[in-house]
Amino acid sequence: MGFITIDENLCQKDGLCAMVCPYRLIALEVGKTFPQTVPGGKERCIQCGHCQAVCPHGALSLQGIKHDWPFFDPGQLPDLDQLTQLIRGRRSIRAYKEKRVDRDLLQRCIDLAHFAPTARNSQQIGWLVIDSKTELRRLTEHAIDWMRHLQASQDPMAEHYGVQGLIRAWENGYDGILRHAPALVVMHGPAGYRLAQMDSTIYLTTFELIAFSQGIGTCWAGFFQMAASSWPPLQAALHLPEGHGLTAAMMVGYPRLKYQLLPPRKETQITWRS
Ligand SMILES: Cc1cc2nc3c(=O)[nH]c(=O)nc-3n(C[C@H](O)[C@H](O)[C@H](O)COP(=O)(O)O)c2cc1C
Repeated sequence: MGFITIDENLCQKDGLCAMVCPYRLIALEVGKTFPQTVPGGKERCIQCGHCQAVCPHGALSLQGIKHDWPFFDPGQLPDLDQLTQLIRGRRSIRAYKEKRVDRDLLQRCIDLAHFAPTARNSQQIGWLVIDSKTELRRLTEHAIDWMRHLQASQDPMAEHYGVQGLIRAWENGYDGILRHAPALVVMHGPAGYRLAQMDSTIYLTTFELIAFSQGIGTCWAGFFQMAASSWPPLQAALHLPEGHGLTAAMMVGYPRLKYQLLPPRKETQITWRS
């Protein structure tokens, strides 16, 4: 057998494993033969686990992967009202308590967010958590330098993003870039990986909902990300792994304020076509 092991005493030859395999790497004659790996299947397997997870008989196991997989319990899914509180209650937090975020809790949120989908299940994106006040100040100073550079070179972005105000605020002691957040989560991926930003966005979107549910506030660090993608001194100061670039960043900390209401959004732009 190739990359899957079949327990022939349990297998019902129902073909479910073959049906869910995204790359059709498992073949069988339903009701007649046991599942087999197609030639070259082992090399092309992305280890998504669908084949093993779908088998109701526990007959299939993927080789080289831990096998203590928990059962999915649909009875534990949140209902739509609970989801509404989660999705609509999450806000971009821009006022944080001066308290270090509990690392164990943050680690648990990140570990859970890591179950978000990635293209071809490649899971190439890394997480960097910076929770040193001095370090965050140093990095923000680089982002401000980038803004000073935009302004000095009369780059149209300077006006568009109102960098003058951000620089002035910084010089007067207010951090409009990272909002004095006690921690920053930076996602990084290999320079040549074209879907790195997309994977990172999905990771952080998942992460911020989990974090919110645990009392941790977040805010996308768009200014910081723009600075990091164009300002070499900030890139160098981040000390990312060799060949990796910043793909997304998010401020993290305990919110200082509580929101009472759930504001509306613009009307959904949805077209139904049939
Ligand atoms: C890609 C992206 C970048 C953002 N960058 C910043 C930022 O640099 N600073 C900031 O204060 N908010 C930033 N935001 C937060 C948005 O302003 C915020 O999501 C929006 O106003 C809606 O508010 P809500 O998140 O509270 O629902 C960013 C949001 C996104 C999605």
